[in-house]
Amino acid sequence: MDYDPFSPAIAENPYPTYRWLRDNAPVYRSPVHGFYALSRHDDVVAALLDHDTFLTSHGTTLEGIEQGFDTLLTTDPPEHEWNRRILARRFSVARVQELESRIRAVAADLLDAARAGGRIDLVQDFSAQLPLTIIADLLALPADQRERVHELCFLLLDRGPDDTPGVRPAASVAAGEELATLFLTLVAQRRAEPGDDLISLLVHAPIVDDTGGERFLDDRQLLGRLIELTFAGHETVKKLVSTGAVRLAANPDARRELVADPGLIPGAVEEMLRIDPPAQYTGRWTSRAVEMHGTVIPADSRVVLLLGSACHDERVHPDPEAFDIRRQIGRQLGFGYGIHLCVGAAFARLEARIAFAELLARFPDYQIDHAGVVRTYSSNQPGLKRLPLVLAPA
Ligand code: HEM
Repeated sequence: MDYDPFSPAIAENPYPTYRWLRDNAPVYRSPVHGFYALSRHDDVVAALLDHDTFLTSHGTTLEGIEQGFDTLLTTDPPEHEWNRRILARRFSVARVQELESRIRAVAADLLDAARAGGRIDLVQDFSAQLPLTIIADLLALPADQRERVHELCFLLLDRGPDDTPGVRPAASVAAGEELATLFLTLVAQRRAEPGDDLISLLVHAPIVDDTGGERFLDDRQLLGRLIELTFAGHETVKKLVSTGAVRLAANPDARRELVADPGLIPGAVEEMLRIDPPAQYTGRWTSRAVEMHGTVIPADSRVVLLLGSACHDERVHPDPEAFDIRRQIGRQLGFGYGIHLCVGAAFARLEARIAFAELLARFPDYQIDHAGVVRTYSSNQPGLKRLPLVLAPA
């Protein structure tokens, strides 16, 4: 069996292939693309924790989407820790909780706007708009640029069926260039006139190293951080909420339980993250040769850590293909693990919990209009582009 993350069939349902990999080739080497792939839960965790051997600084996507951008994710220790502190403080559970009422109000407005028409495209009109609005608020993005930023973030990752595997499509490169121009203009403005927003924070907060020395991010680094935050701050939540809504439609008993007892929603969101992790893999680069299961992965190899497979590993999660909103998950790998564990995890959880609470309170019996569902393709973040729902109000 071949595992090809660029194949549309894998984007639609990778789980049987992952299972084959776990059982037959836990250290798989792609004959076509040359990468190694780890698929078992414990191996993925071990690699995420061994950040001296498995580096991020050579990028984490097979297409090299982050090439040319200096992101937090693609920073190795020790600089990583100095840089992460600033964002970790800003996205702590307590700071994020301050956003609750704003997130709830935006979610309510978006859903109420759909009530009269009796239909909503859950992706375009809700699951993208909610996180985009909140991250755009935090960045203080001008209102007239928000929709364009959304389109550009989408284009950054999206792949067409005819695109060359492993190569960034021209539309992705062009989107990156347009985002760069847009963000660098905002950086120059906030450098001159700081505000109470994330761009100003990143421009003006000093990076403090282990000796107490201070420096500031340069324009190239700022650009990478802003694209990373904008993209990570909404594309992933958009995918989690839309695939979660599909799971609930397919599991009416679970949906009824959540409607009756919204206190179960946080557990359901964890299960959605486990069963459909928005980031199916994350890439690493080996700094030295490493042996696993009798196979030597040479130094300077691209290694793909299959989070999607690790989350379905029956060695850790009994009956992994069952959607169980009461499952005791233990270690959640949907946000990664180790030093690069998603810095926006508390923020994403809050947005997703509110999204489902507001959706189910208004439209507990929504139905999917399957004829209108459109998928998007990407090697590591496939998902839905359109999810039309027929709404039956509560
Ligand atoms: C459901 C939503 C989300 C999912 C599934 C998700 C997933 C992930 C994963 C798997 C990683 C680790 C990648 C690796 O180790 O290679 C990560 C890192 C990161 N995420 Fe998220 N994320 C989500 C939401 C967010 C949000 C809302 C933000 C920002 C506001 C964010 C910002 C980041 C950043 C900056 C990193 C890099 C952290 C570091 O290198 O220290 N993410 N995310």
